[in-house]
Amino acid sequence: MMLSAENISTKLNCNAQVLCFDTIDSTNSEAKRNSHKLTDSPLLFVANSQTAGRGRLGRSFYSPKDTGLYMSLMLKAKDDIQDTVCMTTAVSVCVTDAIKALCGIDAVIKWVNDIYIGSKKVCGILCEAVTDYVTSKIKGIIIGIGINISTIDFPDELRDIASSLGQAVDKNHLCALITDNIVTMYENIESRAFIDEYKKRSLVLGKKINYTENGVTKEATAVDIDNNGGLIIETENGTKTLSTGEITIRIKNDKS
Ligand code: BTN
Repeated sequence: MMLSAENISTKLNCNAQVLCFDTIDSTNSEAKRNSHKLTDSPLLFVANSQTAGRGRLGRSFYSPKDTGLYMSLMLKAKDDIQDTVCMTTAVSVCVTDAIKALCGIDAVIKWVNDIYIGSKKVCGILCEAVTDYVTSKIKGIIIGIGINISTIDFPDELRDIASSLGQAVDKNHLCALITDNIVTMYENIESRAFIDEYKKRSLVLGKKINYTENGVTKEATAVDIDNNGGLIIETENGTKTLSTGEITIRIKNDKS
């Protein structure tokens, strides 16, 4: 079934305003273009396909027509910047909760917020800040989520690492549930209640990893997640925390 603003709105518990597009360049970019409309009420941008879907670290996100869910939720920033920053981590718990509720699948999370089923990625999350031009303060957060629902044909470079939920799911329902989960989570983000669940679903804790920071790749073991979603690692030079910035990690002996 196609996404529709009416259908999503009837399933939502929160008061988000929904804007639905058949095709758009990127729902995150559309949210950014509309950031002047940001109020206390969430704004949700959804699309049936994207022509220029964006991923983390300047990558693109493959967004074919109708076989995926492409959504961006724009929320007003909290006063404490850490509460906004750690939503990047919290959202992956919201998405895996919704996948479990509607599909019965236990998806797992690769730090920071890639969602995997088995050894393949089914969902990527790109959180971006909306900054006030005059004050340079962060006034909003755009949470972009792309889920492969029934995509079978991936481009060559993704074939070995990407997959889909692989079962029929009502996209409108999934979109509404993810939105409600995020809005509820954000209301109580100060409690950091999501951290325990995040750890349980983590694909990396206890594993040997390679991490790349500023172009340099190093070895470490992932040991814990801190209260702001940082990854605590043990390196040959001692313990260190990787924060959710421009870092990629690779689980050793893994292709992804
Ligand atoms: C990643 O895997 O690096 C993050 C991918 C995020 C993709 C979603 S799809 C909806 C929203 N619009 C975008 O352009 N990107 C995000």
